Amino acid sequence: MTPNTPSVIRIGVIGAGFMGRQHVEFIRMVGGAELSAIADPVIRGEAFGCPTYPDARDMLDAEDLDAVVIANPNALHVDTAIDCLSAGVAVLLEKPVAATYAESLRLVDAVSQFDGRLLVGHHRRHHPAVTRAKEAVQNGEIGQLVGVSGMWSARKEDRYFTDIPWHTQRGAGVMLINLVHDLDLLRHLCGEVAEVQAIVSSQTRGMEVEDTVAVNLRFESGVVGSFLASDAGVSPWGWDQSTEDNVEFPYLPDGVAYSLVGTGGALSVPNLAKYSYSSSVDADWHSPLSRTYLPVAPQVSFHAQLAHFLDVVRGASPLVSVEDASRTLALVEAAALAAARRGTVNVAQFRAEAMAQARL
Ligand SMILES: NC(=O)c1ccc[n+]([C@@H]2O[C@H](COP(=O)([O-])OP(=O)(O)OC[C@H]3O[C@@H](n4cnc5c(N)ncnc54)[C@H](O)[C@@H]3O)[C@@H](O)[C@H]2O)c1
Repeated sequence: MTPNTPSVIRIGVIGAGFMGRQHVEFIRMVGGAELSAIADPVIRGEAFGCPTYPDARDMLDAEDLDAVVIANPNALHVDTAIDCLSAGVAVLLEKPVAATYAESLRLVDAVSQFDGRLLVGHHRRHHPAVTRAKEAVQNGEIGQLVGVSGMWSARKEDRYFTDIPWHTQRGAGVMLINLVHDLDLLRHLCGEVAEVQAIVSSQTRGMEVEDTVAVNLRFESGVVGSFLASDAGVSPWGWDQSTEDNVEFPYLPDGVAYSLVGTGGALSVPNLAKYSYSSSVDADWHSPLSRTYLPVAPQVSFHAQLAHFLDVVRGASPLVSVEDASRTLALVEAAALAAARRGTVNVAQFRAEAMAQARL
């Protein structure tokens, strides 16, 4: 613990909408921290048991906070986070880290300038199944990785768009709201992406933002992959249906979000079903396949994320830094550019050009 960090960490929540309210509950459940204040311009007469403020800066001035969780609209993330860092407060910032990659670079600079403590809310990385899957890939438990595929598809309620206008506008959409989690996790499991192609569609909802996207990836390691994401199509496939992370989603045990294939076996995530040929001698595609499940203790990612955040408040390095999350955001943007160009985008080149443009 740093000298100035108290034993009970005082946390403010900025943005008490769909996600912010869940963070409120997570903070209420964790030991060693307390919910000290909430900032949101639209709090509908609700009693949270702590002071509330219409403006985050007023909350920062009035309260002696150690940390904040920022869950306001994406377009406000960077300015809000910079306000908090300049006030010396540690930040858990919801994903995406910013509405654009260029903007995220301002936050990269601010974290360095203020020597800030900031964790980005790619919560899935904290799930024990992800930790175990990464270990399995790194240890060669499925041989040499060849490819990966995955899906996240669920039908959002129409009110998600009609009641919350920012969900229909640039800066939202299934790529920035949902696919960003999956691409982050694919980077985490398989390494950096070298090239991306994508096809986007707004056909089902007919909005400014896309509702469906298919992405092809070539990783720097040579591994290739593909991913389908949609907020318009019903499905059991996706992280949220396959884990107990979020009570707002139906849970289907033994669910699959990602399938990893290697020269010595296959692994699906997060159910951690591992497949391999039963015989190790002269085994090939005609050989019987066996399935075993890699054991892991169940845990909700958000609880693990919050426990880690308390460590970050005390000075630990964040599992998901601003630079790391900004690379994920660059990948989402590179995919959008590939879709617009109907071509292939080199991700490192995209980042370099965007960075040069932003720093002009
Ligand atoms: N990690 C996840 O799984 C996950 C899931 C959903 C949303 N999110 C992220 O959480 C964030 C919020 O999404 P949501 O779906 O809860 O949106 P939401 O619209 O339900 O909530 C946003 C809240 O921010 C408030 N707000 C607006 N302007 C504000 C300001 N200036 N200061 C403080 N509060 C302000 C709004 O009144 C609203 O209550 C987004 O960044 C989104 O990408 C993350």
